[in-house]
Amino acid sequence: MTITMEKPIMRASSFAFVKEAAAEKEKIKVSNLNLYYGEKQALYNVSLDIQQKEVTALIGPSGCGKSTFLRTLNRMNDLIDGVKINGDIVIDDENIYRSNDVIKLRTKVGMVFQKPNLFPMSIYDNVAYGPRMQGIKNKKVLNQIVEDSLRGAAIWDEVKDRLKSSALGLSGGQQQRVCIARAIAMKPDVILMDEPTSALDPISTLKVEELIAQLKENYTIVIVTHNMQQAARISDKTAFFLNGEIVEYDKTDVIFSNPTDKRTEDYISGRFG
Ligand SMILES: Nc1ncnc2c1ncn2[C@@H]1O[C@H](COP(=O)(O)OP(=O)(O)OP(=O)(O)O)[C@@H](O)[C@H]1O
Ligand SMILES: [Mg+2]
Repeated sequence: MTITMEKPIMRASSFAFVKEAAAEKEKIKVSNLNLYYGEKQALYNVSLDIQQKEVTALIGPSGCGKSTFLRTLNRMNDLIDGVKINGDIVIDDENIYRSNDVIKLRTKVGMVFQKPNLFPMSIYDNVAYGPRMQGIKNKKVLNQIVEDSLRGAAIWDEVKDRLKSSALGLSGGQQQRVCIARAIAMKPDVILMDEPTSALDPISTLKVEELIAQLKENYTIVIVTHNMQQAARISDKTAFFLNGEIVEYDKTDVIFSNPTDKRTEDYISGRFG
């Protein structure tokens, strides 16, 4: 007999990062997605399903549409003038382009960028920023969210004695983990990461990679990376993009050991890109 757990009812008021039991389940379903910047088409008929609590890597040469695609998942392209999108993206049975609640969407689908983009304020205030915007004022509650989020981002021990110091005084690698904490503080289901380690040294990169491996117990992660070893190390599935199309999408070990398409093979073996 299989027992399926409902989402815990306590979730809205609980600050523990408890989520339902992991199961192979589609979290995001993208079908026939086309995106245009003005006249220029940047995505062509992109279809893929992203599994819950997996790490999905997006790889491909510069300009192939990885960031563009990633941004469609929380409607960040809406902020760019002249963007037209057609096709469907369904997250948890809701078509995100048919709903107008973009704030709710961006709470559910958080984002971490290439360069750490902390606000010029304290570490504490950076992490508490989103929850405060949501109207949480209770100091105890905020303290708990900040601590849980920083712990969740594997940076608590390094910053717990300097929470009131400027976040900009941290190293790049520490700042990036605080950015991840800031995303976690919103209690997202999905975390999008656009080359989150490309500005980091190898040790910080390793820390962020270890963190991603932990985060996938609770979150669905979609990550753009130019680093093939990184994709191979941390992801469950990999999508190879070329000229705005998905050439191949499969389990990561298949993509890297036995790809079907010659273009995938050429790319992963470094013959172009
Ligand atoms: N705001 C924009 N306005 C117009 N064209 C854009 C815009 N952003 C991206 N593009 C174009 O869309 C295409 C895809 O760009 P995108 O940034 O998604 O590529 P990418 O795969 O993330 O590349 P990189 O690996 O260099 O980050 C490119 O041709 C790019 O020039
Ligand atoms: Mg990009």
